[in-house]
This record gives sequence, structure tokens and C-alpha cells, in this order.
Amino acid sequence: MPSVETGNLTKIYGKNRALDNVSFQVEDGEIFGLLGPNGAGKTTLIRILTTILLPTSGSARVAGYDVLSHPSRVRRLIGVVSQAMTSDLDLTARENLNVYGQFFEIPKRERLEKVEYLLDIVGLLEHGNELVASYSGGMRRRLEIARGLIHKPRILFLDEPTIGLDPQSRLVVWDLIRRFIKEDNITLFLTTHYMEEAETICNRIAIIDSGKIVALDSPERLKQEIPGSDVIELRLSGITNGIADSLLAIPGVREVALNGLIAKINLDNGAHLLPAIIDELRKYDVAIEDISMRQLTLEDVFIRYTGKSIRDEEIKKVSYFIGAGVPRRM
Ligand SMILES: Nc1ncnc2c1ncn2[C@@H]1O[C@H](COP(=O)(O)OP(=O)(O)OP(=O)(O)O)[C@@H](O)[C@H]1O
Ligand SMILES: [Mg+2]
Repeated sequence: MPSVETGNLTKIYGKNRALDNVSFQVEDGEIFGLLGPNGAGKTTLIRILTTILLPTSGSARVAGYDVLSHPSRVRRLIGVVSQAMTSDLDLTARENLNVYGQFFEIPKRERLEKVEYLLDIVGLLEHGNELVASYSGGMRRRLEIARGLIHKPRILFLDEPTIGLDPQSRLVVWDLIRRFIKEDNITLFLTTHYMEEAETICNRIAIIDSGKIVALDSPERLKQEIPGSDVIELRLSGITNGIADSLLAIPGVREVALNGLIAKINLDNGAHLLPAIIDELRKYDVAIEDISMRQLTLEDVFIRYTGKSIRDEEIKKVSYFIGAGVPRRM
């Protein structure tokens, strides 16, 4: 049985189709990543799957239950770490976890033990009696991950779990998540703007743009769909007719895109072909002003499907003060 299954899921706000006929499945035990530019519909999808928002049309089943007809069953089987930080600032970490455990009616003794266990796992045992108001962003995020796991969910939804954190805290959070997956065999459904993280962590990735899923596969296979294994980017002093065709004629060069004075070349074995490319350009009256070479990444896949890249400025635009709230009791 799939952990998540949607059929033509659609959400319309006024004239805006935030989700447009989204159909996909997430298998049990998978780490599934949702990537998309700002406003693509990621939070909307997570909110519907976590029973916080109603779809306009279509269906969604989570942990085997329909989110519309059995929301309370779904809520007991999922954990949610929302894009917004929603832990209570006026309570200590211990109190936050304890209150949440009470929502889920975990018996007192078991609850208190679980709180200590989770505080320990997320490295907050020594800070358990401090007010969350005094926490750093990374500490608060770790607390919220612990909170999402208090009732032993089968599926954990994480909306931008590392957004706004410094690189070191991001690593800590991902290590934590990986450990839980291994130990508890939990299914993970996450959104992230950080491509490299998605590439190393996720078994499969869906790219969503303007409410539609435009690609869905393993990171390796998504990359294989793009011609070449490497990318060389050249900044030239000028562009002359015929440059693109000449470069394309070199065996191993798979694709050439010219954008202003930049030539982006997708190719197999870039290091090996670089001299041939330079030789070819000597035939033209242009100089190479700048050159870079790298392996193809998920970012290239993302740009191909969405026409956009995700840069740091884009990431900063994402608000972590909005997002899905905590699951409420029915
Ligand atoms: N409550 C709402 N009312 C009206 N429009 C909304 C509402 N919530 C979201 N939208 C719109 O729906 C679209 C999808 O928004 P959503 O928050 O799901 O995107 P996202 O992919 O999570 O973006 P981000 O990367 O910025 O978190 C956007 O165009 C957004 O403006
Ligand atoms: Mg969002």
C-alpha cells in the first residue's frame, strides 16, 4: 500500500490554480522530495495531505486513509514539521513536547519517557528546561522534528525543514532525519529549496511548477534525462554565427545553448573534450573571457523543467513564518 496517493488533486484560490490535477504515489519507507520555485504549490500540497486544507477537487489517501473522509485517522498516523516554526515560545522544550504528547493522548508514563528519549536524540536534553524563546533557529527546528515524532508516526511531513538555518545546523537536521528513517522505517515527505540536500537524501523527487508535477523520478534518472554528464560554461567576447553548430559537431558535445555572451555546453567527459572546444573556438574571432566546468546537478534538471534556478535570494524570499500549522484534534 502506498504511503501517499493522490488523484487529480486540485486547489484553486480565486483564479489561481495552486494545484492542478496532481497525481502521484509515495511508496512505504521512501524519502520523497518535492522541489519547486516559490509559489509552486508545495505547502498547499502538504497542507492538503496533512488534513489542514481541503482540496477543490480530486482525492488524496495518506497512510491508507482518505484525507477527506478520515482526517482524524490520518492525523494519528502522520507527523508534521511545518514551514512555519510553531513551537510555543513561552514554554520550555520539555513542556512543548509534553503538551503535544497530550494532544495524541499518549499515557503519562510513556509520554514522559518519550519526551526524554526525543530530547536526547535531537541533542536538546541539557536545554530541555529552557524557554524556546531563548533557542536558536536550529535548536527550535530540532525540537519541532522531535515533536513531529512523539506519537510514532508512519509518515513524517517536513515543509522546508532546513530553510533559514545556517549550513552547520542544516547538516545536523539532515543527519537527524536520516537516523530516524533508518531506525524507525518511517516514510518521509519533504519539500526543500536546497537541491544538493534533495539529491543526496531523497530516493525520488517530484518537481512541481505552477501547481503541476513536471517531472518525477530518482535523482539519478532525472539527471540521466538531460544530455551529457558535465556542463562547461564559457563567457565569450562575442558570438558569431556558426559557433553553436561547430561546437555541436564535436563528438561528445550533446547540447549547446547560447544566452547573450554565455555558451552553455552539455557534454560527456568535459575534461577530455575541453581542448577540442578551445581549438574549435580558435577558428572564430572570439576570445574566451571566462570558463567553468562542473558535473551536471539536479539544479540543471530543475532549470530545464521550470525555466528557473533557485538561488540564495530566492531561498530568502521563502517565509518560514507562514505554513501549515500543527494537526488539531478533531
Ligand atoms: N490562503 C491562500 N489564499 C490565496 N492564495 C494562496 C493561499 N495560499 C497559497 N496561495 C497561493 O497558492 C500558490 C501556491 O502557494 P504555496 O504556499 O503552496 O507555494 P510554495 O510552493 O509552498 O511556495 P514557497 O516556496 O514560497 O513556500 C501561490 O500562488 C500562493 O500565492
Ligand atoms: Mg511553502
